[in-house]
Amino acid sequence: MPTTLEAKTPRLVTALPGPNAKRVLEQDAKFMSPSYTRDYPLVAKRGLGAIVEDVDGNSFLDFAAGIAVCSTGHCHPKVVAAIQKQAAELIHMSGTDFYYESMPQLAERLVRTMPGAESKKVFFTNSGTEAIEGAIKLARYATRRDKMIAFYGCFHGRTMGALSLTASKSTQRKGFGALLGGIEHIPYPYAYRCAHGHTAETCGAEILEQLEGQIFKRLFDPEDVAGIIIEPIQGEGGYVPAPKFFLQELQRICRQHGIMFIVDEVQSGMGRTGKWWASEHAGIEPDILCSAKGIASGMPLGAIMARESVMLWKPGSHGTTFGGNPVCLAAALATMDLIESEYKENARRMGEYLFGRLADWTKNFNIVGDVRGRGLMIGIEIVRDQRTKEKAADLRNAIVDLAFHKGLLVLGAGENTIRLSPPLLIDQEQADFAARTLEECFREAGKKI
Ligand SMILES: Cc1ncc(COP(=O)(O)O)c(C=O)c1O
Repeated sequence: MPTTLEAKTPRLVTALPGPNAKRVLEQDAKFMSPSYTRDYPLVAKRGLGAIVEDVDGNSFLDFAAGIAVCSTGHCHPKVVAAIQKQAAELIHMSGTDFYYESMPQLAERLVRTMPGAESKKVFFTNSGTEAIEGAIKLARYATRRDKMIAFYGCFHGRTMGALSLTASKSTQRKGFGALLGGIEHIPYPYAYRCAHGHTAETCGAEILEQLEGQIFKRLFDPEDVAGIIIEPIQGEGGYVPAPKFFLQELQRICRQHGIMFIVDEVQSGMGRTGKWWASEHAGIEPDILCSAKGIASGMPLGAIMARESVMLWKPGSHGTTFGGNPVCLAAALATMDLIESEYKENARRMGEYLFGRLADWTKNFNIVGDVRGRGLMIGIEIVRDQRTKEKAADLRNAIVDLAFHKGLLVLGAGENTIRLSPPLLIDQEQADFAARTLEECFREAGKKI
């Protein structure tokens, strides 16, 4: 019989939270910053693959993956071995001041995944938000302009520059005073709630008209705009994909005016959608692409990748002490091997399988308004009633909590969406367990209306 960690599906042995978990929660309440947002009391101890065990010996199937981070699952033996080997050899050197082999090695592998004929260059960071900060600076530096356009609903991070681009939830900005100036937000093409009744393929034409006809005419001359930044699939905003034509048109507009086309693939990248980058599905070629989260299977790493003719900043203009730390790079190289050899394809296949499995949900459950996404980046929007599309945040929260009590870890996204972002290694049995469990949760939550 496999141990709980080796099993493919969860096993609960105590009421939740269990006694050990309660002890940690008490200590946490005393000492930890209250700004964290914990949806349910999971106190994790160990993880393997898509299974996480808590401090009381309960095991869970993880369809959250530490917010889409543990791309190769928890503690993949090859990632662990790479980290251990590197930690015994060289932990830190600072790539800002010295050289080490894995920096250009990983950079070369990353840029090979990027579309476009021009050579690319890479700057490594510690996180997604730091990659976005760098992208803002790079776009300004490369264009000598300072205005930016971003989208409502998008999340780009919490440091002051990235937060200025973020327009996801007002609590993320409230109380922090003035942010970066010169940023305008425009609507994101959200097909399920499209004011013009468009489909997932056609939603957004009016937004582009607004950009060219209003913003560029009344607010910012396009020649003052340094960059337009977009998530090809909105993450924190509710797992909303932008239509292919929309991304292509944005690229055309950027090229026309010499604006940097910045694509934030912090959540959608690294194989999650079945390709290295979600933007590949639209056939676009970003000037600057930001990555983090799944890039190093849980070790803190981010990357700014840009066309060679864009990344021309001079020595000293940008740097970092820890970004691109050797141990994180070793984890990333092992992660790329695994994604390339198996998990990108598995994400595509299991995504297709799951979408097939979930296809009837909007017919079978009146509280399921929309099922959308790509690969293993799947959003399920919960509504009070399909006819009115009234957002049902309370039901969504109830479903997330019910799922936890049945051994399935999922997270919310946006106001009323459940996100499925499992490790890219899940198999059919695990996909079926997740789908079955969510169906039970929908039935139970539906009774509460
Ligand atoms: C699309 C996107 N960009 C940027 C970030 C910020 O990344 P980090 O939390 O690593 O700073 C996130 C985090 O959720 C994200 O989803």
